[in-house]
Amino acid sequence: MARILQGKEVRDALALALRQKVSKLEEKPTLAIFQVGDRADSTAYIKQKKTFGENIGARVIHRHYPESVTQAELLKDIGNDNEDGNIHGIIIQMPLPEHLHKEELIEAVYPKKDVDGLTATNTKRLYDNKPGLVPATARGILMLLDHYNISVEGKRVTIIGRSNLVGKPTALALLNRNATILIAHSKTPDLKTVCKRADILIAALGKPEFITKDFVSAGQVIIDVGINSVAGEKFDEEIPTKRKIVGDVNFKEVEPIVAAISPVPGGVGPMTVASLFENLLEAYQKKG
Ligand SMILES: NC(=O)c1ccc[n+]([C@@H]2O[C@H](COP(=O)([O-])OP(=O)(O)OC[C@H]3O[C@@H](n4cnc5c(N)ncnc54)[C@H](OP(=O)(O)O)[C@@H]3O)[C@@H](O)[C@H]2O)c1
Repeated sequence: MARILQGKEVRDALALALRQKVSKLEEKPTLAIFQVGDRADSTAYIKQKKTFGENIGARVIHRHYPESVTQAELLKDIGNDNEDGNIHGIIIQMPLPEHLHKEELIEAVYPKKDVDGLTATNTKRLYDNKPGLVPATARGILMLLDHYNISVEGKRVTIIGRSNLVGKPTALALLNRNATILIAHSKTPDLKTVCKRADILIAALGKPEFITKDFVSAGQVIIDVGINSVAGEKFDEEIPTKRKIVGDVNFKEVEPIVAAISPVPGGVGPMTVASLFENLLEAYQKKG
């Protein structure tokens, strides 16, 4: 039986600590979230952030635009929030519609308010192992491992996925903790062997339950980053096909083999939200 890395429980403990810290501050730490369009998944993520933020006593401003918004309008509003001393963090909810220039919008955010840790300045700080705002998912994974006293120093860590949002920053954050990193991706040959050899396997490929028992070995720690919405069972004709959230790991198959595993939902997801607000508090403390 594997140890279950309960991100939800760790998140709740972090929320308590954050609430105490926030209650002692002069102003409410404030996060502005820019959303363009009405993607249901983005709206759900924003709702989670709002709920968590309000729960710890922070303020979350949802700036919601129609798909037709222009790059110039967004740049102007990001610029205003950059200059507003009452706003301490700014994030741009991804993905954005095709007509917008994502990189330019990310770079428009002042690095000190970039609580998603995606600007070139914060990326370079992570690259150089200097203090800065680390992307929330990477930070959340570190905090989850720390909570369960799972040291990464010297360990072989395989990360499947090389996105700027998850795979690369997670690799750098763990490298900075002296892990030995292997980044796998869609062109990696013999992925099963690569995965089996790791001490810690981090799955961030966005493929529902892709990691089966054939990818893992005894004693491993498995971190499942994936959030995939898949069709559930149809119960009868009255009820439309239900959708459920699964990870990148086939939990049922993998859990009996490995030493520890984070579930989906309830693992990395809640840690990511908590980490975002850890970043917001950091940004608040360094304001000015
Ligand atoms: N839990 C959280 O808080 C959280 C936060 C963010 C994202 N997520 C989830 O994490 C997953 C990854 O997100 P992302 O934004 O990094 O996705 P992404 O940008 O689509 O990147 C996926 C990565 O996985 C690799 N990949 C895809 N299929 C593969 C395969 N069959 N074998 C090996 N590698 C493969 C891709 O390789 P190539 O580069 O070669 O194409 C790419 O590097 C998604 O399910 C997403 O919803 C969760």
